[in-house]
Amino acid sequence: MSSVLRQHAETQFAEELAELQRADTRQRPTNWLLSPWAVVRYLMGGRLDNGFEVSPKYIGDARLMEIAVATLATDRALLLYGVPGTAKSWVSEHLAAAISGDSTRLIQGTAGTSEEQLRYGWNYAQLLAHGPSEAALVPSPLMQAMRHGKIARVEELTRIPADVQDSLITVLSEKTLPIPELSSEVQAVRGFSVIATANNRDKGVNELSAALKRRFNTVVLPVPSSAEDEIAIVTKRVGEMGRALELPAEPPALKEVQRVVQIFRELRSGQTEDGKTRIKSPTSTLSTAEAISVINSGMALAGHFGDGVLRPADMAAGLIGAVVKDPVQDKAVWTEYLETVVKERADWKDLYRAFRELN
Ligand SMILES: Nc1ncnc2c1ncn2[C@@H]1O[C@H](COP(=O)(O)OP(=O)(O)O)[C@@H](O)[C@H]1O
Ligand SMILES: [Mg+2]
Repeated sequence: MSSVLRQHAETQFAEELAELQRADTRQRPTNWLLSPWAVVRYLMGGRLDNGFEVSPKYIGDARLMEIAVATLATDRALLLYGVPGTAKSWVSEHLAAAISGDSTRLIQGTAGTSEEQLRYGWNYAQLLAHGPSEAALVPSPLMQAMRHGKIARVEELTRIPADVQDSLITVLSEKTLPIPELSSEVQAVRGFSVIATANNRDKGVNELSAALKRRFNTVVLPVPSSAEDEIAIVTKRVGEMGRALELPAEPPALKEVQRVVQIFRELRSGQTEDGKTRIKSPTSTLSTAEAISVINSGMALAGHFGDGVLRPADMAAGLIGAVVKDPVQDKAVWTEYLETVVKERADWKDLYRAFRELN
């Protein structure tokens, strides 16, 4: 096993990508490593004709992945949009890995992201010594993606100040990045495109300008529609991450995953699973990603300080931490849920006790 804490998708799934390339006889857009069909197969998983098993990366509607991939095969950029934890970054990384074999041309959007980070900067020692030149230019990941015909990724696009965002317009519409200091430009090579992600929960952030919005096709990634899907996602990722982190714990019992997912879904939707009791929702997001991390932390506790079997007491603290973000409002919501829902379930007594012991 590699000692790198987290491998890039193209490294971790190199074998799957190689098998898909071998099996893929369909037409590939210029500079794509796979055909659009094979890219979707990589994302959704499945058995190849030669029997090779491709693991699923995205669990959900295959049509969404087809629309995303088809977008990248045109001259339009792709915006993955949705609430936190719906696999936007995850899908973006895997798309770039499958199409370009490289998911690392990445710009992380923040309120402090500058135009230089998006376009290019300068090596100041070179610049002062020799003036502006090709050698003094420090290309951004976006510029490199344009030069090499690859996918560039922009994470959290709407956190970037609006005027900085707008420097993407020329790139996306004219497919060129002017360098006025050198009286030159970088013209995008075929295969270049941009995958951006944006969060609809970000408060007080910059809206996407209308001009920029028109350059993107938006694919909304939904919260998993059924409990089964969400349980499958959590089980799969918890297993993968437990292995990567070498946690000395057994994979969690299905029952524990089911209960965490059920608590998340009930609090999120504001009613119990049977639809009989209305409950209040906390301010917290309660995303699938957080359910994964609640169970993962529980496995670390069970593995290092328990007998390696995940029990309610190992998950209780993490679960409350995920639900109660606002110490007053969420605390009240949580207490009500605990006393009116959790307490009443005959087979949840152990869980109720674990929560009570923390209070
Ligand atoms: N539909 C899904 N299919 C597979 N994994 C998912 C799904 N939804 C969430 N996840 C998991 O949730 C985690 C967080 O996803 P991430 O891409 O960081 O979310 P965000 O939408 O906030 O960018 C990832 O580890 C991913 O595997
Ligand atoms: Mg993200």
